Amino acid sequence: MTKQEKYEELLPQVLGLIEGETNAVSVMANVAAMLHDTFGWWWTGFYTASGDQLELGPFQGPVACYRIKRGRGVCGTAWERNETVIVPDVEQFPGHIACSSLSRSEIVVPVHDPQGAVVAVLDIDSKDLGTFDETDRIYLEKLASALSKTVVWG
Ligand code: SME
Repeated sequence: MTKQEKYEELLPQVLGLIEGETNAVSVMANVAAMLHDTFGWWWTGFYTASGDQLELGPFQGPVACYRIKRGRGVCGTAWERNETVIVPDVEQFPGHIACSSLSRSEIVVPVHDPQGAVVAVLDIDSKDLGTFDETDRIYLEKLASALSKTVVWG
């Protein structure tokens, strides 16, 4: 199955899984689990925005850093720019925060509240170089948009 086919199959399942669930932690936890199980990535999870930093949220994978300042690392950069950041090689990204030395590539997708403010980021790490591309961006942004609408943030 291609990556696109996997996403096409997964997306309706995720939408079904989170439908009617408004608790942010519960929804983020199940979304992280479903994505992680489907793709077998190294780390799949969320950081939530609080003041000027991101705080570790529900995730699957090895332990990770608790806090990331706005503008720092890939996660803080995606938050500050308010856009998805794809990093094919983390060693080439200035300021990358290495929670795990095995992480090689990464994608971070902002999640918004209904007013359009970034309330969380979805962070996915791979042990391989160049894992993430436009296909991931398209589908993960769709997923983030579904989360934005379903969950009651804050
Ligand atoms: N690498 C991320 C930090 C989070 S961990 O990968 C889970 C970053 O540079 O923002």
